[in-house]
Amino acid sequence: MTDPRTLVDLERYPLFAAAGRRQVVDDARATLESVGAAILPGFIHADGVASLAAEAVGLAPIAYRREQMLGAYGYASSSESDPTHPARRTSRYTMHAIATDQLAPAGPTMSIYEWQPLIDLIAEILDLPELYVLDDSMMRCNLTYLSDGDEHGWHFDGNDFVVSLLLQSSESGGAFEFAPNIATETEPNYDAVRAVMDEQPGMTQILQLEPGTLALFRGRRALHRVTRVHGDRQRIIALLSYHETPGLVNGPDAQLRVFGRVAATT
Ligand SMILES: [Fe+2]
Repeated sequence: MTDPRTLVDLERYPLFAAAGRRQVVDDARATLESVGAAILPGFIHADGVASLAAEAVGLAPIAYRREQMLGAYGYASSSESDPTHPARRTSRYTMHAIATDQLAPAGPTMSIYEWQPLIDLIAEILDLPELYVLDDSMMRCNLTYLSDGDEHGWHFDGNDFVVSLLLQSSESGGAFEFAPNIATETEPNYDAVRAVMDEQPGMTQILQLEPGTLALFRGRRALHRVTRVHGDRQRIIALLSYHETPGLVNGPDAQLRVFGRVAATT
């Protein structure tokens, strides 16, 4: 079993010292509030990143290839007649993905995912009493690989937040681009979303992610994408999913869409 304490930079992020931890939480909350994202650069130190990336690179040959055109507002079809309407447009999702059941249970990626001090930190930043790992045997912790020419198109997330760890950056491209607070659950704000999709300048921000950066992102209200990757080196990111109640399973539809198969038991 990998000890997560050997992966995390506990000097830069002193999670076990009250004052230091307070500062980490306060800093993260400030940007989470203003733009919907909290960024902890270097949360995983260089040796830790090397260990996590080695596991990911080793699994790349068995990753599932995903090539889809999907809409930004979830997966329900829109009744809009105009094919250029933001609710009807689709964009490319092209990537490889590793499901939880392909990760070594005691390897570095699963060890960091299940590390209770990290779960407690995320909950505290989000001001939630508790957070739990999912029960989903495929979707609780994943790796996503973007190779030359791949991209993850414009979308809003269906879940409240996502935690990610960038393990390897691409040579160029692969930027996380987002339009913070552009929509709400009740106001889809199509005009502004159309402007972003039409690439009008000044509508978006780029989230600076380096290998080892922990990012906490609220994606329900922020239209976002990962721009097209260029070069031989893959962009590899670990996605860690937690929920406010125990036992969450995403279910067969989501498993099929992301991994092309359904878990035997979830
Ligand atoms: Fe997303």
